[in-house]
Order: sequence, then C-alpha cells, then structure tokens
Amino acid sequence: MLERIIYVSQARHDVCASAAYEIIRVSHNRNSLHGLTGALIMLDGYFLQVLEGDAFHVSQRLAAISKDPRHHSLDLRQRTSIETLTFPEEWMALRLAAGVSDELKTAFGYAPGFPPDRFTTAQLLAFARACCEPAHA
Ligand SMILES: Cc1cc2nc3c(=O)[nH]c(=O)nc-3n(C[C@H](O)[C@H](O)[C@H](O)COP(=O)(O)O)c2cc1C
Repeated sequence: MLERIIYVSQARHDVCASAAYEIIRVSHNRNSLHGLTGALIMLDGYFLQVLEGDAFHVSQRLAAISKDPRHHSLDLRQRTSIETLTFPEEWMALRLAAGVSDELKTAFGYAPGFPPDRFTTAQLLAFARACCEPAHA
C-alpha cells in the first residue's frame, strides 16, 4: 500500500543550506533503497516535506525524521493512502529560499510556517509541486 505524509516543522536555528544538502544526501541514499520519493522545501526557517511510498517504509522514516534534532515542532498535516506518487522521479527534491520565486509565493498566499488555518493539505501539496516544476526550478 502506498502512503503519503505531509508535515511542517521548524528548522533548528543553525540549520543552513549546507545542512539541508547533507539531509538530502542521506535522504537520497535511504529513500532510493526503499522506493520513497518526495520533496523538501526549506523556507524562512521551516521545513515542508512530502514523503511518499510504501506505507511501512514511510512510517519507519517518519519515526526517524521525528527524532532528528535538526528540526522540531513537527506538525503532521496529512497521512493518507494514495494510488499514485506525486513525485515519482524524485528520491527527495530540495528547494531552498533562493529557488522559490516571489511570484510563486504570492500566487499561493505564502506565509512563513504555513499556518494550518491558512493552508489546506491540498494547498501544501500544490505548493511543493509548484516549487519543483522544472520551469520554476
Ligand atoms: C527535515 C528533515 C527531512 C528528512 N528527510 C529524510 C528523508 O526523506 N529520508 C531519509 O532517509 N532521511 C531523512 N531525514 C534524515 C533522518 O532524520 C535520519 O537522520 C536518516 O534517515 C538516518 O536515519 P537512521 O538514524 O535511522 O539511520 C530528514 C531529516 C530532516 C531534519
């Protein structure tokens, strides 16, 4: 069974771009072993992550990610079974602030931390997708 999770968390204050690249290096290795895909967006000190794939492996990774000291206040916004992957070709795409245009942020009504009363899970997923569009990257 395929599952998708979407969460928002707060990066530890000293987590910068190089730390994000290190997270992605490990994630690519690990996710490719287990067929997990998704996207990680780091903006204004927050992470937005979409992680999808085999339900067992998604749960296992979520357990590890939840304990990772490089972020805190993880808010799981969605956990759902899915039929198809949203990011089938990305072991874990990464977008940092420099890669997300002001136009895109305005179009989505972006606010730091993606407040839950302003962003539905569908909007979070659409935002992550839009950030990773080849035309945008
Ligand atoms: C924001 C964030 C996102 C992460 N995403 C992933 C991921 O998609 N896949 C992954 O294997 N590890 C990810 N990690 C790293 C895990 O927390 C963990 O360090 C890594 O999976 C190694 O796990 P282990 O301690 O079980 O060996 C992420 C860490 C952070 C802080």
